[in-house]
Amino acid sequence: MNIDILLGLQWGDEGKGKIVDAISPDYDIVARFQGGPNAGHSLEFNNVKHILHLIPSGIFHPEKLNIIGNGVVIDPAVFKKEIENLGPSVEELTKRLIISARANLILPGHRILDAAYENSKGCLKIGSTLKGIGPAYTDKVARNGLRAGEILRKDFRELYNKHLEAHLSMLRQYDFKFDIKEYEAGWFEGIELLKKFRILNTEYLINELTVKGMKLLAEGAQGTMLDIDFGSYPFVTSSNTISAGACTGLGVSPKSIGEVFGIFKAYCTRVGSGPFPTELNDETGNSLRELGHEFGSTTGRPRRCGWLDLHALKYAIMLNGVTRLFMTKGDVLSGFSTIKVCTGYRSEGKECLEIPFTDQAVEPVYTELPGWEENISEIREFDKLPKNLRSYIAFVEKQTGVPVTMVSVGPDREETIFRK
Ligand code: IMP
Repeated sequence: MNIDILLGLQWGDEGKGKIVDAISPDYDIVARFQGGPNAGHSLEFNNVKHILHLIPSGIFHPEKLNIIGNGVVIDPAVFKKEIENLGPSVEELTKRLIISARANLILPGHRILDAAYENSKGCLKIGSTLKGIGPAYTDKVARNGLRAGEILRKDFRELYNKHLEAHLSMLRQYDFKFDIKEYEAGWFEGIELLKKFRILNTEYLINELTVKGMKLLAEGAQGTMLDIDFGSYPFVTSSNTISAGACTGLGVSPKSIGEVFGIFKAYCTRVGSGPFPTELNDETGNSLRELGHEFGSTTGRPRRCGWLDLHALKYAIMLNGVTRLFMTKGDVLSGFSTIKVCTGYRSEGKECLEIPFTDQAVEPVYTELPGWEENISEIREFDKLPKNLRSYIAFVEKQTGVPVTMVSVGPDREETIFRK
């Protein structure tokens, strides 16, 4: 069991990028298994902040292999921008990064269709990142996708044109202005750059290397509550963000999975529309947004903020088979005199034991815990954390039955406490 999974347990933005980067030294390979440029994984070291959208968060460790798995959707234009801004040369990066031939491409038409669909939805907008994710996965499942392996074909341009025609014909149904040329130039430049990388049937490589004893960390994107099946549908993303998605998104068997690390923020945030029972539309919510710099790393949108929702967290732990919890942004809660934690929902006066499958209105049931005043960003040992923060963590562990073995106290790689 040489494959561990790290994923988000809430609505994304839990701080996965930072944690993957921090634990990468324990792994030989880091692989993304779903999502695409809708993700924005932030990591910080040597006082520089990096935001990754498509590229796995192990890329800054020169000796690690990074893989973009078959479950990911790749926008070549975004890929090019990201590669160019990383720092190391393209030649160096081609040694560190391999791409699955089976990963579907996001075409210029997908981006425009995403915007046209959202535009036509009126007040029922998903709040999509408009990166073309939904339309690209739709084409994949409808068996109309164009995949990374195909870019090496001589007739690639003709293939592309067929897809373009299909997308233009769909777009005629919408009253939506667009300029496809605006996207196409950068997209084809991205295709040329992609050709410099190894594009392989990565499922063979992953199985071969991990059977030989190399350790792989599967890096999830978005969060469990945005999963296409189990999230708050239809306000979800278009892929399986849960641990099962790592098997289909990399081509590995469930038998090969060891640990499942579930990342949660000490409070909750959400971008885009959809249910959010613990949302705070008040001064406390504004404080969390300001103190936690809660603005989307992909879109810059202000994130909705609220108290920790343990009822939803327990659901996420169940779906993913989480073996360890990692808590981020505990530092943001410093200074609140009391902190609320949602331990259940009520609906129409009755206790609601399950997470509803619709957007049925629910009321959170809260437990209040005492806060702490201390700034914790300089602390590096668990036992030195404020007593009330340790009690907060103990409360989460008791409610979920899963140990919290890592606490992040700031955005930098170094601001991480591993608990023995
Ligand atoms: P899409 O994945 O761009 O189609 O967006 C669908 C929903 O998921 C929207 O509410 C987005 O705001 C949300 N979403 C997508 N990716 C992320 C992410 O990486 N972090 C947080 N929310 C996301």
